[in-house]
Amino acid sequence: MTRNDSPLVHGAMVRWHLSTAMLWLCISLFAGLLYSLQLLQHWPLPKIEVLSPGRIRMIHTNLIAFGFLTNAFFAMLYWTVPRLTGVRVASRRLGWTILVAWNAIVLATYVGLHLGQAQAVEWGETPVWVDPLVVVGAILVWIQFYTPIVKTKERSLYVSLWYFSAGFVWLGLTYIMGNFIPQYLVAGNAAGPLLGLYIHDLVGLWVTPMGWGMMYFFVPIILRKPIWSHALSLVGFWGLAFFYPLQGVHHFLGSPIPMFAQYSAVISTIAIEIVVTTVIINFFMTWKGSEGSLKRSIPIRWFWVGALNYFITCLQCAFQVTLTFQQVIHFTDWVVGHAHLVMFGVFSFWIFGMIEHLWPKLTGREWWSLKLRSISFWTTAIGLSGMFLTLTAGGLLEGFMSLNLVPRETILEAMRPFWFVRTTMGFAIIAGVGCLATNMVMTVVASRAAHADFEYAPYEEQGEEASVGTI
Ligand code: HEM
Repeated sequence: MTRNDSPLVHGAMVRWHLSTAMLWLCISLFAGLLYSLQLLQHWPLPKIEVLSPGRIRMIHTNLIAFGFLTNAFFAMLYWTVPRLTGVRVASRRLGWTILVAWNAIVLATYVGLHLGQAQAVEWGETPVWVDPLVVVGAILVWIQFYTPIVKTKERSLYVSLWYFSAGFVWLGLTYIMGNFIPQYLVAGNAAGPLLGLYIHDLVGLWVTPMGWGMMYFFVPIILRKPIWSHALSLVGFWGLAFFYPLQGVHHFLGSPIPMFAQYSAVISTIAIEIVVTTVIINFFMTWKGSEGSLKRSIPIRWFWVGALNYFITCLQCAFQVTLTFQQVIHFTDWVVGHAHLVMFGVFSFWIFGMIEHLWPKLTGREWWSLKLRSISFWTTAIGLSGMFLTLTAGGLLEGFMSLNLVPRETILEAMRPFWFVRTTMGFAIIAGVGCLATNMVMTVVASRAAHADFEYAPYEEQGEEASVGTI
């Protein structure tokens, strides 16, 4: 037992959710790499139905969303919510139940997808018989984390808690809307906007509030100074809540969905640009004055590059949401590059920053290898950047060739070098994440140095007061 298995924080839950997150990430990465071989016409497992490429693609995307990101966010919540509220989660036994149930759901999804039981909902391909279990899982999560939020005696809640509180409700509503309404109630063109909204809200109303709340918690703690503007962070919250749910149709621009819906999605996407900028400004203004941290602190390096990637993603959005730009990039690899930049380059990088910060505290041991930490960062960052730049450039080429009515076969031939580089960069990402995972395991089994935990020490043991909540 380490010092962070305190009565307040259930450290074992943080460790287990982080470990399962890394496990699902590794499986998902192999699935992504495998599928990239199909696009190079080198599928290594021909004529095996359960391993057909289409199924492997769905395994790649679903394990990222539900296996990796969601488990990592649960770990983050177990660490942050009790600290911010000063109250324990509802029940340790419920914690174990959620851990087992959630990972059983991910496993069922994995097996169901191999068996060809996918539901026709992009990023919600979880088999229909798994859907009700996800809703039950979400309700258990509400009970676990709303309990401390409701019971807290803190008079004003830190902005991270605002994001978390809303994110729990949004997760439930988003999942029900995307997985049940198009399946049982509406079909065809009418289901289109709901499906667009589902994909968009899974990112915007689950991954984003968890990610923003996580960044707003960890960055001030690591830098040991308060966030630059609390007011700006709240503008971000209300902006997210108001504008995000209006823009799902921007995934289907140019489709038969009525133009008024498409135009409204374009306008609210432009509005959300301003909202997202609040987070980026707040991050960089908080970091300003602590420039040395980029060299000293590997967690800050992950957060910093993640914030930079966020800026690039948002800049891309401002262009790609216009109908003019859509004529070029729709159905091209530009979109795939964009998806990897935001899901991996931003939110996953922030999660890696959190892991870098927390793992020694959770295990009570210093990182096993400093060199491996640095290699992991650089290899992953180079892999992601290379993949993003290649897909973006390839996407533009693809788009302009299509606009000029070049035959599809010629376009596919032209894309081959880009896809080859994407696969190579995939190897780099796997190597980088592999270094992090190896370092995590070796820290537990072989690290000799004990970790001295100053960030979360009681106030009287610290030289200066830390910045967030009741630590
Ligand atoms: C080894 C590294 C990776 C490789 C080789 C890889 C490869 C791929 C491939 C080939 C696709 C399908 C593209 C298509 O259908 O044209 C894809 C889709 C996707 N991947 Fe990855 N991927 C990797 C890592 C990741 C990571 C770490 C994430 C998120 C954290 C991620 C998120 C996604 C998403 C969201 C899509 C769907 C994109 C869309 O439909 O627009 N991938 N990936």
